[in-house]
Amino acid sequence: MWPLAAALLLASACCGSAQLLFNKTKSVEFTFCNETVVIPCCVNNIEAENLNELYVKWRYKGKDIYSYDGVVNKSATYGDFHSARMDVPELLKGDASLKIDKSEALLGNYSCEVTELSREGETFIELKYRVVPWFSPNENILIVIFPIFAVLLFWGQFGIKTLKYKSSHMDEITIAVLVVGLVTTAVIIVGAILFVPGEYSIKNATGLGLIVVTTGLLLLLHYYVFKTTIGIPSFVIAILVMQLLAYVLAVVGLSLCISACIPVHGPLLIAGLIIFALAQLLGLVYMKFVEFRGTPPVS
Ligand SMILES: *[C@@H]1O[C@H](CO)[C@@H](O)[C@H](O)[C@H]1NC(C)=O
Ligand SMILES: *[C@@H]1O[C@H](CO)[C@@H](O)[C@H](O)[C@H]1NC(C)=O
Ligand SMILES: *[C@@H]1O[C@H](CO)[C@@H](O)[C@H](O)[C@H]1NC(C)=O
Ligand SMILES: *[C@@H]1O[C@H](CO)[C@@H](O)[C@H](O)[C@H]1NC(C)=O
Repeated sequence: MWPLAAALLLASACCGSAQLLFNKTKSVEFTFCNETVVIPCCVNNIEAENLNELYVKWRYKGKDIYSYDGVVNKSATYGDFHSARMDVPELLKGDASLKIDKSEALLGNYSCEVTELSREGETFIELKYRVVPWFSPNENILIVIFPIFAVLLFWGQFGIKTLKYKSSHMDEITIAVLVVGLVTTAVIIVGAILFVPGEYSIKNATGLGLIVVTTGLLLLLHYYVFKTTIGIPSFVIAILVMQLLAYVLAVVGLSLCISACIPVHGPLLIAGLIIFALAQLLGLVYMKFVEFRGTPPVS
């Protein structure tokens, strides 16, 4: 009896065929941008030619979450892992990776157990989350600074307009410019408060949207400030066209940043905002130093 058992033991030890071997992965990471989380489990010595020789069980912290039974070609999910699934045909190539929707993916240790007739094996993978900021810290600063700079420059122009081109009473256009200017300033400040550094979120996307879109109103105000002071000579037209193009650039950058999870077009957006503010600065300098030509169209 004993020699037989010893011989059997020796046989299995020598050929080592009772074990399935895995391409081990200690841990995988996902970020806000992964819609689906894939937890890898790859057997590299699979021999099965038919699915009915295989059985797979996935566990999370020791509790069953998913199983696939090749005999009946059926999978099942347990607990709250309703989205757990596996690409069944890939199983014959040894790939038993589990896919889960991000919303159901829990952090921690998962185990994958594969059985092929009498051979079996198990591997552990830890699922981790990585926070990826939407914009880099420098980008965050530039995105907030330049629109605020443009707003300050607008108020500078408005100040010059009021001092240099004082009219006996506030005309309607000036009142409208003042009101729209105050609203623009308030909205950009609210946007800057919402646009906190960190991961992409509805909140900071809203903040960014408010900052960038509202900046467009400054272009309109810029036009009216010129119209009611020095008029619209061709240099002013050039400044306004430059500002319009910068605004278009910023809005295109904004939409690209919001539609892609990882914004690679941040520089486009920032370039737009910087050029916009520079055009505003140019307008201010021009207004300050150019001699008043022609009759100011104030009443
Ligand atoms: C998340 O997405 C990245 C990039 O597409 C990918 O490399 C990574 O493996 C994914 N993570 C998980 C856990 O699925
Ligand atoms: C396991 O890794 C080896 C090399 O590292 C690779 O050739 C093989 O395809 C992998 N197996 C699976 C099932 O991914
Ligand atoms: C097992 O089911 C999958 C779909 O769940 C199907 O694609 C595959 O062809 C089936 N395989 C067998 C051997 O019945
Ligand atoms: C997962 O398992 C590893 C090694 O067994 C351990 O170091 C780690 O702390 C575990 N992680 C969690 C979240 O339980």
